[in-house]
Amino acid sequence: MDSIRITGGKRLEGQIPISGAKNSALALLPCALLTDEKLTLANLPRLADVDNFSHLLNGLGVSTKVEGVKKGEFGRQMTLEAKDIASTVAPYDMVRKMRASILVLGPMLARAGEATVSLPGGCAIGDRPIDLHLRALECLGAEIELAAGYVKASALKGRLSGGDYSFPVVSVGATENALMAAVLATGRSQLFNAAREPEIVDLCNLLVAMGGKIEGIGSSHLIIDGVEGLHGCTYSVMPDRIEAGSYACAAGITGGSIELLGAKPSDMLAITNALAAAGLMIEMTDNGMRVTADKPLKPLAISTAPYPGFPTDMQAQFMAMLALASGESFLEETIFENRYMHVPELRRMGAEVDVRGRSAIVHGVEGLTGAQVMATDLRASMSLVLAGLAAEGETEVLRVYHLDRGYERLEEKLQGVGASIERVSAG
Ligand code: EPZ
Repeated sequence: MDSIRITGGKRLEGQIPISGAKNSALALLPCALLTDEKLTLANLPRLADVDNFSHLLNGLGVSTKVEGVKKGEFGRQMTLEAKDIASTVAPYDMVRKMRASILVLGPMLARAGEATVSLPGGCAIGDRPIDLHLRALECLGAEIELAAGYVKASALKGRLSGGDYSFPVVSVGATENALMAAVLATGRSQLFNAAREPEIVDLCNLLVAMGGKIEGIGSSHLIIDGVEGLHGCTYSVMPDRIEAGSYACAAGITGGSIELLGAKPSDMLAITNALAAAGLMIEMTDNGMRVTADKPLKPLAISTAPYPGFPTDMQAQFMAMLALASGESFLEETIFENRYMHVPELRRMGAEVDVRGRSAIVHGVEGLTGAQVMATDLRASMSLVLAGLAAEGETEVLRVYHLDRGYERLEEKLQGVGASIERVSAG
């Protein structure tokens, strides 16, 4: 298994190009199932999760063609075509590797009237059930049966009928599955307390570009009028706000200044507000935004929340940065029950963090020291990289396959702003 080796202490300066958003790409890819025409997605990030998802789609009968990628360029273009649905089964060995595979459930039901998808099982950051996905689909006219670790779903009258569902808990994935099911249902559907993340807006914009009828885009009340069919189109994935926020923290933790090329400030207000409260300077530029840390970091009190609140996907990265703040910070993780796996590893680098249930107190220290650390999940591994960038000496982050799921060519992007970082292949 590869590892990442970092020699810390360098002030990072320069520009980092921001890739297409992983969490949007994983919701846009299954839309290929909704039409028998070609769907071309541009600005797709080159990530393990995107590769895995396209392999899952291949198994369902979707052809995928990656357009030529020029050396040194980021992202790529993929054309997908689901002339026919060859299989409606998403097998366990695919779904267990990537929870987002559950996002084929709604579109397969909408297109083929049936779907058999393995239950995803839990993951490092929590149990992550799919009950809301299933309840929402039942309200849209699906019959759901659980058997032998699989969800067996079918459209009661051969085609989803549409309906109303109010989410008791805001769920990004369940909102996405319900949207992709409702666009081809026979009637009107309404989703209440729907997720409002920018990735949901990106999905709605793609569905509308394919001929779908959706009102309330960007709000928590979505109204979808089902249509007979959707057509193909070409669509560009939105920039990754979490990747951009992660590299902004790299500027913060090293006292540097990084221009995030292609970042979309309006998607990141909760993140940039928190960065500014910590003392960083945020400047809008013609190509994105520049984040500069030229004074000591101030401690913060942060609670994660559904959009437009502070994103849970940024909690670990901020904790690493706040480990060097001048005072005590308070973090509260309200979305997942086990999203502090980075804490023991940060402690080994000298961070002083106390965890009590879903809350954490971060006592700022003068400096961190490099160590060999273990990545456990995607965002935890980024927090260890950030700590390594600031730590005295050498840090080696093991199990970097977690990083490869969500950060396109991370070491190359960080080398570009002066970091001493390299990937060490385990042979
Ligand atoms: C998406 O996961 C993201 N993943 C996650 O990003 C992100 O952390 C999460 O949304 C919250 O923003 C992708 O988009 C691929 P949820 P998702 O359904 O859809 C509970 C990353 O690091 N819940 O919004 O799985 C759930 O347990 C990843 O990029 C139910 O109870 O998250 C959680 O407590 C990690 N029942 C809360 O809702 C359900 O049926 C929010 O989960 C579904 C969810």
